[in-house]
Amino acid sequence: MTKKIGVYPGSFDPFTLGHLDILLQAAALLDHVIVAVLVNNSKQPFFTLEERVHFIENVIEEKGLSNVTAGHFSGLLVNYVQLQGAQCIIRGLRNELDFQYETQLYAANSILAPEITTIYLLGNPSHSYISSSLVRELGSYQAPIETMVSKSNHQIIAERLKRR
Ligand code: PNS
Repeated sequence: MTKKIGVYPGSFDPFTLGHLDILLQAAALLDHVIVAVLVNNSKQPFFTLEERVHFIENVIEEKGLSNVTAGHFSGLLVNYVQLQGAQCIIRGLRNELDFQYETQLYAANSILAPEITTIYLLGNPSHSYISSSLVRELGSYQAPIETMVSKSNHQIIAERLKRR
């Protein structure tokens, strides 16, 4: 039987507890999930690629997610998905703004690769206010961010943002 492999792509600048909600659901649904960090984005990321991948690896270890790996990609997402032998893309939705943005991504990806399904998952409502940009903003003022990022990354992210 073919293994069901999904790619969960994003900027993950940094990976938050909102992202973790989505990842846990995806990992329970699929045989394998690759969390894929976008290398080049039009918006210049604050954290380096190595840092962003490292945060995800920390979360995988902290949560003991044996069917999840971290990766990175540049160029078109659908090409990476095909290269990994995956059948689906995972995306999280928090609100209608996300939905609007996602319909555009979905349209582009389904034109480029109609055989790839996108699975949309809703995060825990108590995490719907969390975003990477909010973490960066609060952290840069040394405000608490421990309710927004995982235990394994909290200290290192807070330290890094303090020196911003
Ligand atoms: O976390 P983000 O920034 O919302 O993730 C956006 C991402 C990485 C999924 C999207 O920008 C992407 O897939 N970029 C790769 C380029 C691509 O495939 N573009 C076509 C779809 S618009």
